[in-house]
Amino acid sequence: MMETARRRPSSFELHGPEDFAAMRKAGRVAAEMLDFITPYVTPGVTTGELDDLLAKKAEDYGVTHGPMGYRGFPKHICTSVNHVVCHGIPGDKKLNDGDIVNIDVTPIVDGWYGDSSRTYFVGKPSVKARKLVEVTYECLMRGIEVVRPGATLGDIGHAIETHAKAHGFSVVADFCGHGIGQTFHTQPNVMHFGEAGEGEVIEEGMFFTIEPMINAGKAATKILPDGWTAVTRDRSLSAQFEHTIGVTADGCEIFTLSPKGWHCPPYEGA
Ligand code: MF3
Ligand code: CO
Ligand code: CO
Repeated sequence: MMETARRRPSSFELHGPEDFAAMRKAGRVAAEMLDFITPYVTPGVTTGELDDLLAKKAEDYGVTHGPMGYRGFPKHICTSVNHVVCHGIPGDKKLNDGDIVNIDVTPIVDGWYGDSSRTYFVGKPSVKARKLVEVTYECLMRGIEVVRPGATLGDIGHAIETHAKAHGFSVVADFCGHGIGQTFHTQPNVMHFGEAGEGEVIEEGMFFTIEPMINAGKAATKILPDGWTAVTRDRSLSAQFEHTIGVTADGCEIFTLSPKGWHCPPYEGA
């Protein structure tokens, strides 16, 4: 996700049927990668091993991973464990029973970026962790449900924020969703909080991500000295889900839906 930053001029690239077909392919690869990795997310595996597996998978597909080398990011995917909010760097860290981990992939398929993430349970997480993950998934889907031409970006943020707060959770404000297509991160910035009816008006043909990060504690984050890993300042748990969508005449198309139906854990039969 992008850092929430300066305003940009509000003119968005609008896409037609050929671009939708290209994004459908890229989104499908992202979703298949997240499906593929599911049975490997178990106690004892390292996040570096998950990165290796998906690096190999990309070779099989003949695609590359957007994050590798992006502004100096050193790995193929992001793995964000427990109080890591986003942009965790895969490494030697072993996953433990009871952890939650977000895996975020962005394959580039014929030049188009498909960006998606899911949070996974490692073994058996606490009741609190399971509730956070479930509500975070619901936040993503509530945000997606309001997308149609004529609605605003504020409507999306409002839907997400309302649901998170109703459960006593907080919405990360330091990172947001983003326009996407043949560029990884472009306008608009898609905030995960806001006021209904405010913000830019959504138009048919827009491509963007929605990717709420929801914390069990306070919203504040900080970046670790590696320059990437964002964590909750109060070390509370954080969860995230992300889809890439395209705005249609009467709603939106989700490009990154799981072919296996593994939308939210527990991922049955993995
Ligand atoms: N996939 C992330 C997003 O949702 C971006 C990762 S960029 C990286 O936008 F450099 F951190 F990998
Ligand atoms: Co994204
Ligand atoms: Co992503």
